[in-house]
Amino acid sequence: MQLTKEEKRMLNGEEGYAARKSMEILTALGDIYGADQLIKVGSVQVAGVSYHNLGDAGLEFLNELAKDGRVKVLTTLNPAGMDLENWRQLGISEDFAAKQNLVIDAFRRMGILISCTCTPYLIGNLPRYGEHVAWSESSAVTFANSVIGARTNREGGPSALAAAFVGKTPYYGLHLDENRQPDIHVKVNANVATLPDWGALGYVIGKKAENKISYITGIRDADVDELKSFCASVVTYGAKPLFYMQGITPGAEMHQPPRETVTVEESDLKEAYAKINDEATDIGLVCIGCPHCSIKEIAEIARIIEGKKVSAKTEFWVATSRTAKQLADQRGYTATIERAGGKFACDTCMAVAPLKGRFKSLATTSAKGCFYSRQNGMATKMGSVEECVEAAVTGKWK
Ligand code: F3S
Repeated sequence: MQLTKEEKRMLNGEEGYAARKSMEILTALGDIYGADQLIKVGSVQVAGVSYHNLGDAGLEFLNELAKDGRVKVLTTLNPAGMDLENWRQLGISEDFAAKQNLVIDAFRRMGILISCTCTPYLIGNLPRYGEHVAWSESSAVTFANSVIGARTNREGGPSALAAAFVGKTPYYGLHLDENRQPDIHVKVNANVATLPDWGALGYVIGKKAENKISYITGIRDADVDELKSFCASVVTYGAKPLFYMQGITPGAEMHQPPRETVTVEESDLKEAYAKINDEATDIGLVCIGCPHCSIKEIAEIARIIEGKKVSAKTEFWVATSRTAKQLADQRGYTATIERAGGKFACDTCMAVAPLKGRFKSLATTSAKGCFYSRQNGMATKMGSVEECVEAAVTGKWK
């Protein structure tokens, strides 16, 4: 890989430990994937924030980097293992909170915004069409590539951090035009109406397209919340963090539908629901907000739960960014949801909080939420916001 003088200085350690380590990571990646240079990035999204996943080794690694590592571009953080303010109310232990706070403190010293959300594009980290960025968090990467039209590979936590310290990333993969061509035409002949339908659609297309870039037709309309739900699901059950949706996402008009074709029928969506849903009637946790709820989704939850009461046998969480929660405070949505017995889980989510063993079953609107909650040993149910609120109120899934 061709390096500039400045990049060579960093690699030689003349700009400190974190810059040297970062250059080692970036040049190694560049060599593996055949990049010829590093390119500037407009922003970085760093995943790998929960102490639950990092452990002491990860915390030590971050503390080493934080000694002299300072980010060069706008850098935001993925959800942590707990609500940074309200962790006690969510049942997080003192020990875990102390460790999680040390992780956050290391990121803060690096100059990273303590945003703790997987929807950075809703809270100010919004790239422009065609901009190169280095994001981790698969749902956000897919949203950036497909819905915004920015360009990013699916970074891991360390490679995203390295890009933040250098302000650059190796020029390969989805940064290049030739790797952004659609491979498979996905004709949707099914009605996609509710939020979980988008999760089910993501499941089906993820499975059918596997590691190919889909060119999706047959979708008449989609709002940002539906698209973020689809992004989370399609990359969880498939692999490629890029798709085109004719008439909906930018760049689709520049391509012709590929010759290889698959169809999605109503029966496929039904089958997806059957695969995502487990046998469960009693519901221990209801969590909406995967990816993190937008203010519009919080307003919808408040409207549906107003005047109801969450069952004593169930917890009801709204996972969102602190920024969205502050807007919800202003409009009274927080008060409505909390009056009903719901709790806000800002800064965190059902996948990265230490929930293993605490709940036997989960209800959610999110197909991705089901995937990760199963790994946490929970039986899962996916349904609409109305069905989830009903489960929270009765403690049962109908
Ligand atoms: Fe976000 Fe957690 Fe879902 S990081 S996409 S809420 S699993």
